[in-house]
Amino acid sequence: MTNEQKISQILSNVSSVGSHLDSRSAVLTSRNLAPVRPEIGSRAYHAAVLGAKPEFKRTLHVGRPNMPDRAAFLRRINEVLDSGWLSNFGPMEQEFERRVAETAGTKYCVATCNATTGLEVAIAGLGMTGDVIVPSFTFIATVHALWRQGLRPVFCDVDPETHCLDVDCVEAAITSRTTGILGVHLWGNSCDSLALREVADKHGLKLMFDAAHSIGCRSDGAGHDGIGDAAVFSFHATKCVHAFEGGAIVTNDSDLEKKLRLMVNFGFAGEDAVAHLGTNGKMSEASAAMGLTSLESMDRFFEHNKRNYMAYSAGLGEIPGIKLMRRHTNRPHNFQYIVTEIDADAFGLTRDELVAALRLENVCARRYFHPGCHRMEPYVGLSPRAGQTLPVTEILTDRVMVLPTGTAISTDDISRICRRISALSRNAEAVHRALTVCNDPRLPSYARGPGVEVSTAGTRL
Ligand SMILES: Cc1ncc(COP(=O)(O)O)c(C=O)c1O
Repeated sequence: MTNEQKISQILSNVSSVGSHLDSRSAVLTSRNLAPVRPEIGSRAYHAAVLGAKPEFKRTLHVGRPNMPDRAAFLRRINEVLDSGWLSNFGPMEQEFERRVAETAGTKYCVATCNATTGLEVAIAGLGMTGDVIVPSFTFIATVHALWRQGLRPVFCDVDPETHCLDVDCVEAAITSRTTGILGVHLWGNSCDSLALREVADKHGLKLMFDAAHSIGCRSDGAGHDGIGDAAVFSFHATKCVHAFEGGAIVTNDSDLEKKLRLMVNFGFAGEDAVAHLGTNGKMSEASAAMGLTSLESMDRFFEHNKRNYMAYSAGLGEIPGIKLMRRHTNRPHNFQYIVTEIDADAFGLTRDELVAALRLENVCARRYFHPGCHRMEPYVGLSPRAGQTLPVTEILTDRVMVLPTGTAISTDDISRICRRISALSRNAEAVHRALTVCNDPRLPSYARGPGVEVSTAGTRL
């Protein structure tokens, strides 16, 4: 039987109340579906999984690079080539550091080749040892940076609204082995930096932030979201302001800044003198040229992202079971991520099913941060009671879906994405059944074939 025949058969069988989620999800156990009868030949067929044409010919991605002014970038690259100074704290890199510090409202900035190296250098520079408290609901690089410095991550739960560290859980997790807290300003949301500072000071701990998502975000309306002793931005190609690859550590501590600057250059304090353990974490002049040009276009990128956010807000507002993360549109923010949570009971499909069905529309929505760092190697086993200690994380890893945005996506694209999401919800039962027999190569591997569940440990922001 062809796929089309299977789908027709499924459609003709769909007529009654169902509870298909039982077999697909351990977390979501029941639902009351109204009788579902796909409106054959009508709008119901406006879903590729049910035989319609995909909504988009091109694939829409989360995190397609924003392109800044090409002529300005090429002018800078020509300057770099003319100067013959390609790396090692050249003029582009120095200017980039000044601009990042200005944007972040900090005294110092040390540019790095990427944020992961920046995190490792900052962690080592702060001299943390033993245990460090960190969320599990983050990109794996946050936790790898600790582990690679010989530290043990102690996973802590997050706030259900901001997805950032829950301060009460942090305080409860502190032991005599704890030397630091590594918060993540996830999605550009701010951790409760003041409360975390108080807790850190009370217990004599270092406090730093992974601010990979946060360039340009000032959710408290004054100064940058807390930087603690140090914070690290990412300028990876998929970030709204990028340097091809790049990172930056910001701090207000002049001694730390001097130390970090040596550490990103193998620890060299002079021609032959090595003062610290170090690495090669420097940013190249080509990256700094792109970073500077990208920073110049920052406001345009943010405005575009904000318009996209508002279009999603309008388009998803009436669809049951899909919640868009709230943003304060009057505060400086990069609106870089369109973060949704899927309540399968109300929506009719699980998050994974919705992601799969959207892939067939050529909308490359992504699940984040499934299955949580505490369920990835080498951290499996560090949180044996995760169900009790990380309940919010466990729910979020099953529910969060990120939708495409950035300058490659228009508000018209977003209206079309939202209409398809609505059609998928209205025809949930038929969609579910069609997915169980679908083996389209565009589907994520975990959605191919019934009951298949594959970890996406490499999920990338
Ligand atoms: C939360 C978070 N931390 C760290 C990183 C690592 O950044 P980079 O790719 O610049 O090393 C990323 C993204 O890629 C991230 O999303």
